[in-house]
Amino acid sequence: MTEVHETIASFRAALAGAASVGFVPTMGYLHEGHRSLLDAARAANDVAVASIFVNPLQFGPTEDLAAYPRDLDRDLAMCEAARIDHVLHPSVEEMYPFGTPTLTTVTVASISAPMEGTSRPTHFAGVATVVAKLFAIAGPCRAYFGEKDWQQLAVVRRMAADLSFPVEVVGCPTVREADGLALSSRNVYLTPLQRAAASSLNRALRAGVAAVESGERDPAKVRAAMHAVIDGVPEAEVDYLEVVAADTLERLDPLAGTLRLLGAARFGRARLIDNEGATIPAPT
Ligand code: PAF
Repeated sequence: MTEVHETIASFRAALAGAASVGFVPTMGYLHEGHRSLLDAARAANDVAVASIFVNPLQFGPTEDLAAYPRDLDRDLAMCEAARIDHVLHPSVEEMYPFGTPTLTTVTVASISAPMEGTSRPTHFAGVATVVAKLFAIAGPCRAYFGEKDWQQLAVVRRMAADLSFPVEVVGCPTVREADGLALSSRNVYLTPLQRAAASSLNRALRAGVAAVESGERDPAKVRAAMHAVIDGVPEAEVDYLEVVAADTLERLDPLAGTLRLLGAARFGRARLIDNEGATIPAPT
């Protein structure tokens, strides 16, 4: 039976003394992508826990904080089905008793700056701050994050290492619809027409991967290959399409090593992100 905790103290007390803890931080409105994280946490740990908290710090002033989809009953049913032992579901006041913005903010330079960081300048400071708090609350654990948010995963990994959190950050593969669309809580905003068009984001990224795999080493040409797929889709408004080093997220010219191709595009109200990997073998 999943136990729900509204206070940090009660969640902490429930985890004390566990041999190993698997932790899935979420903002709720859980889908099969989250389910894969819950299952991974359940499979590898004695105690499996999650948090459900829509974090105001990571939303910009014009973003969808108030409208962000929520369904606690359905979320808890999924946690129950995944045999999650404990869920932290705190109020904003419990998490930020001195109000927001907080006086203390965690920022991860350089990795936070490009792509999402350019379009959403305060987003990763909000993510890093809440995840640091959640790690401090959970204590030693394995923490599971989806690769769909690749830049977030890189920011969280670096933050945990820089601040010596006793946390092993585990990245889990993106779960997709049959046409390639990555599962996201924001897919609920899509109209049927936009939903049909939304798979163009993943198709664009895969066209970039195909260009790299067929020998292209010029990042501008790989970006052009991605744009060629999505620019003509009337429902899609591209924010960025990039090809960067997978770990540092730096631009490389010529392309080499382990790469990540990342993109963001707006389809009506829904701003969607996605990414794919490609590796250029070292010359022998
Ligand atoms: O990926 C998310 O759902 C959120 O950014 C996270 C990591 C739970 C922090 O609020």
